Amino acid sequence: MDYFLYRDGILHAEDVSVPEIAAQVGTPFYVYSAATLRRHFQLFTDALSWGPHLVCYAMKANSNQAILKLMGDMGAGMDVVSGGEYRRARAAGVPGERIVFSGVGKTREEMRLALEGGVRQFNVESEPELRTLSEVALAMGTTAPVTIRVNPDVDARTHAKIATGKSENKFGIPISRASEVYAEAAALPGLQVIGIDVHIGSQLTELEPFELAYRKVADLTARLRAEGHQISRLDLGGGLGIPYERSNQAPPLPTEYGQMVRDTLGHLDCEIEIEPGRLIAGNAGLMISQVIYVKEGEDRQFVILDGAMNDLIRPAMYDAYHDIVAVNEPAPGTPQATYDIVGPVCESGDTFARGRAMPPLSAGDLVAFRSAGAYGAVMASEYNSRPLIPEVLVDKDQFAVIRQRPTFDEMINRDTIPPWL
Ligand code: LLP
Repeated sequence: MDYFLYRDGILHAEDVSVPEIAAQVGTPFYVYSAATLRRHFQLFTDALSWGPHLVCYAMKANSNQAILKLMGDMGAGMDVVSGGEYRRARAAGVPGERIVFSGVGKTREEMRLALEGGVRQFNVESEPELRTLSEVALAMGTTAPVTIRVNPDVDARTHAKIATGKSENKFGIPISRASEVYAEAAALPGLQVIGIDVHIGSQLTELEPFELAYRKVADLTARLRAEGHQISRLDLGGGLGIPYERSNQAPPLPTEYGQMVRDTLGHLDCEIEIEPGRLIAGNAGLMISQVIYVKEGEDRQFVILDGAMNDLIRPAMYDAYHDIVAVNEPAPGTPQATYDIVGPVCESGDTFARGRAMPPLSAGDLVAFRSAGAYGAVMASEYNSRPLIPEVLVDKDQFAVIRQRPTFDEMINRDTIPPWL
């Protein structure tokens, strides 16, 4: 559920009309709903309320400072995957003890940064990383709290580019070698091993792959405990999907997910952590764009928008589907037209949708891309020298620009011409 609804025929973000924001900030832009973000975080917290838990928002989905502050104020932890994300989380006021550090390629510098500033745990993904982290912690006169990410070799049944839990993926240590790796970790003087981490992929639309993986984690917990390890925390990753295609998709709800976690792992008396990103931010955001032209092709009509693949890359990168709706609600019974919806960037990959049924559109109309709050703004680039688009946060009847559109001068002046040219 989200808070983007039509009122009197105009799409609103909570109590603010989308055209009003467009008039003030110009198109294209992202707009997020605070109520939706809060609701999604609360759903996960409630779903795990049967035991000790922490919801660590996977901030890679949307790492704007205002979003992090909003989440942090609700008590969220953060899942970070780089020194930059760690700094962003801290800058937004999230304490180190609520930050988990994930990622396959943490550098010594990033390890030092997190050990210095405080960290809940490192989710370690390989033996060389274990050894390096132990060295770094020892040199700082401390020990690093660690879970080890296991790769359970489970098919997440999602897009290949965002599946992470099969043995051919670069993530985690093979679960079959866990005993050996935990034994080495326990012997390293700079580490304190506290649990197990698993994350099998993103945009999962069924519970079964999670359940398969979590059953393996339950078995592993028992085995590692029998081998003398103290396993008190299970980090279960993120990955619960959202209904991008509202008409025919109904992924499991956080409540059902929480119940399944309880059924598979609840008896182990562990603290549960999860790292949802998309489900929290995805349907809390729209990208608003304006039609520049409607163009007649040989056998189709193109709607050319002012938003492009550099602003929202998911369709080009993953063939992802985003609902696109007219900001002015079509009158009931309006016959639909069929369009290819494209951006102005100079490649054919800059296509948001092919053969999409829409109400008739013309130049100047506003459209909204739904489910654009996660992996939208954060994956944007300035390709074709198109400045990054602004982000706006709505909270009831108030809204604020939470990231300005850079001016062309700011964009150009980031480059420097060497004195010898
Ligand atoms: N934890 C770890 C270790 C992850 O790698 C990820 C996502 C998450 C949590 C959060 O997963 P979520 O709950 O958001 O599914 N750019 C892609 C998605 C990449 C996901 C990468 N890892 C997209 O636009 O679909």
